[in-house]
This record gives sequence, C-alpha cells and structure tokens, in this order.
Amino acid sequence: MKIIIINGPNLNLLGKREPHIYGSHSFEDYLSNLKAKFTSLDLSYFQSNIEGEIIDKLHEVGFSYDGIILNAAAYTHTSVGIGDAVKAIESSVIEVHISNVHAREEFRHHSYIAANAKGVIAGFGLKSYDLAIESFL
Ligand code: DQA
Repeated sequence: MKIIIINGPNLNLLGKREPHIYGSHSFEDYLSNLKAKFTSLDLSYFQSNIEGEIIDKLHEVGFSYDGIILNAAAYTHTSVGIGDAVKAIESSVIEVHISNVHAREEFRHHSYIAANAKGVIAGFGLKSYDLAIESFL
C-alpha cells in the first residue's frame, strides 16, 4: 500500500516550534518510528512551505497512491487552491492536525479541505498521523 504524508508550512519546525502546542519531537524522528511500526507500507513524506508545491505534489501522487495524509497547516484555513486540488484527485485524502484546531482561534475552525477529505483527525498530537494510517489499513 502506497501512502504519503504531506505536511504544509512551518511543520519543518516541529520540535522547535511552540512545543506546548506541537510537542518536542521533530517530524523526521517521528517518521522513522512510523516506518518501523508500519513496515508493510510504502510510506513516503513531503513537506513544503509553498502552497503551489503542495498542489503540484497532490497532482503528482493523487492518481496512483492509495492514500494521502495531508496536514496543510495554515493553508487548511486559507487555500481554495489546495481544497480544489483535493477535490480534483482520485486518491483518498485524510486531513490531519496535531492540535485540536476546534479548541483554538476561530479562524482555525474552517477548513477548505475537509469537505473533500475522507475524514479529519485532529488533536491527538503526532499520534494523529498514526490514527490516519490505521484508518487506511
Ligand atoms: C496545524 C493547525 C493549524 O491551524 C496551524 O496553522 C498549523 C498546524 C496542526 O497540525 O495542528 O500550522 O495544522
């Protein structure tokens, strides 16, 4: 099963960025744990701070991968373009957030992705990604 995790802006700073919200582990460390845990999966990872690069990646993988785990970070709340890309592709997309966006500022309550995602997982820390993988399995 081919699954990709796509992370959006500022998630390259995980471990350093607001650790009280996002935790103190880097995504790279967490990813090696995930790969060790889900050995049967072909699991890849892409991170970008640039909206168009995230759209290009969705187009590239969105007609051949079995699943996409997308944390578009701040673009979740602003990007019609990423929302349209999720609508345009064929692969199932699960929207993921580390924090519980619904318990935070109001502008984080709206998602341009959720309506076209298979589901949304938010608020379980990095474990949100584990749960997304498990739901694909
Ligand atoms: C986030 C939540 C977003 O509101 C925020 O802009 C992020 C990270 C999360 O994973 O909790 O950068 O997507």
